[in-house]
Amino acid sequence: MRRSLVAGNWKMNGSRTESAALLQGVKKGMSSASKAEVAVCPPYVLIPLAAEKLAGSAIAWGGQNLSAHKSGAYTGEVSGPMLKDYGCTYVIVGHSERRTLYGENDALVAEKYGAAQTVNLIPILCVGETLQEREANQTETVVARQLDAVIDKHGIGSFRNAVIAYEPVWAIGTGKTATPQQAQDVHRFIRSRLASHDEVVADNIRILYGGSMKSSNAKELLAQPDIDGGLIGGASLQVEEFLTICRAAD
Ligand code: PGA
Repeated sequence: MRRSLVAGNWKMNGSRTESAALLQGVKKGMSSASKAEVAVCPPYVLIPLAAEKLAGSAIAWGGQNLSAHKSGAYTGEVSGPMLKDYGCTYVIVGHSERRTLYGENDALVAEKYGAAQTVNLIPILCVGETLQEREANQTETVVARQLDAVIDKHGIGSFRNAVIAYEPVWAIGTGKTATPQQAQDVHRFIRSRLASHDEVVADNIRILYGGSMKSSNAKELLAQPDIDGGLIGGASLQVEEFLTICRAAD
């Protein structure tokens, strides 16, 4: 049985004060008996705060990105060992905003995925198509290309310690959500792509849905057989919204 994971991607949001309140609220509202795993990914500068507030709780924390390098002359970058040093469990890799706004290509995303695993951070590898690609019937081609870049470089075995997030770019932050069936179809495709290399790995890996998942649609999405949780942007910034999604994953 795959244990659900609900991960909040805060993106570039939150002051120290707002974030402390959000962390307290989530911690307080989470039942210790929760079957689903919960994580938050704050901006880098707020990770020490998350580490402080969530220490001793069942809630994990992680980064939204990392450098492909360990250390050195890379102004403005943050490395895997630094995230690990602050107790991160996860790190998001290849989010579509990184791919489109910061020019991260499949090769760089694969390097970052490897850099995360080198220090035992669990990469949450994001894949997904744009609206144009969907309309041109390219969804499976694009998602396969994004997955293969990582499989080719690190092997199918590396997916034993990874999470995948399917995030249709057209649904991110737009309020548009893939229908449960549209999402399920791509999740199924991702799992079968991995299964063609290793069925056990494919069976065990968690595939999260991301793209305007919120309290009102989480239940239906999470009820799909191949949807094992969510990567939540906007709705992770509101305590009640986020907690409702976490409960739906329980
Ligand atoms: P959203 O973002 O929930 O605000 O659509 C999801 C994400 O980009 O991870």
